[in-house]
Amino acid sequence: MATVLDGKKISKDIKQEIAEEVKKMLLKGEKPPHLAAVIVGNDGASLTYVGSKVKACELVGFKSTMIRLSGTISQIELLDKIAELNANNDIDGFIIQLPLPPQINTQKVIMAVDPDKDVDGFHPANFGKMALDMSTFIPATPFGILELLERYSVDTKGKHTVVIGRSHIVGRPMSILMGRKGFPGNSTVTLTHSHTKNITQIISQADIVISALGIPNFLKAEMVRDDAVIIDVGITRVPDESHPKGYVIKGDVDYENVSKKASFITPVPGGVGPMTIAMLLKNTLLARQLHQLKC
Ligand code: GUN
Repeated sequence: MATVLDGKKISKDIKQEIAEEVKKMLLKGEKPPHLAAVIVGNDGASLTYVGSKVKACELVGFKSTMIRLSGTISQIELLDKIAELNANNDIDGFIIQLPLPPQINTQKVIMAVDPDKDVDGFHPANFGKMALDMSTFIPATPFGILELLERYSVDTKGKHTVVIGRSHIVGRPMSILMGRKGFPGNSTVTLTHSHTKNITQIISQADIVISALGIPNFLKAEMVRDDAVIIDVGITRVPDESHPKGYVIKGDVDYENVSKKASFITPVPGGVGPMTIAMLLKNTLLARQLHQLKC
């Protein structure tokens, strides 16, 4: 039976550590870190995620601002808002929740964020620094996965890591990070995607599988090696009338059966999800430190 990589517990520990840092700041007479989150439109899942991020800020003593903008906002209006946030000295870091509506060019939006306030780590300057092993903001979901692997001392050196999905938010940065020098890292990485041939054969050769595909129950027990490490980044809402919310959250992994075969596994919910939020807070603390150096 696999050891559960308990993101709920570890994220709580991290939030506790951050709360201690905030207390020290306040004792020194400093202002608490301030995170702003921009949400465009009314997508239910995005609203839930941003709501959780804002709530987590309150829990650790950060100041937070949620900025809700109409789904019909123009590109220029959104870029103006970003310029305003860049210039606002009271805000240490901010995020623009993705995905954005079709009239908005996401790349232009990402490029408009001041790299020193880019706590998502999506700006090319930060993404480039990450790839070059320079100190920077690491995108929160991959950062959370690294933290879980580190805190559970999961051996990654010389292991074959198979990443499923090449999104800019998870798969692509994850593939870079797992191949970097150091721990967690030093892995041999295969990045798979919709055009990968023989994906099941590749997965069967993986010591570590990181699945960010978004297909519930995609990864079955017969597809993975004995003692593989399984990281499930899937968070698909599956309609379920028996549930008060009308849906349940499902990961990419057939947890019940895969957990019998794996050495380590993340549950859904309670695995990678809460870690993402904790690491966003950690990045905001870093942004605050950068901001203080500039003032
Ligand atoms: N959408 C899904 N994940 C993320 C994230 O980590 N940051 C932002 N800004 N949008 C997202």
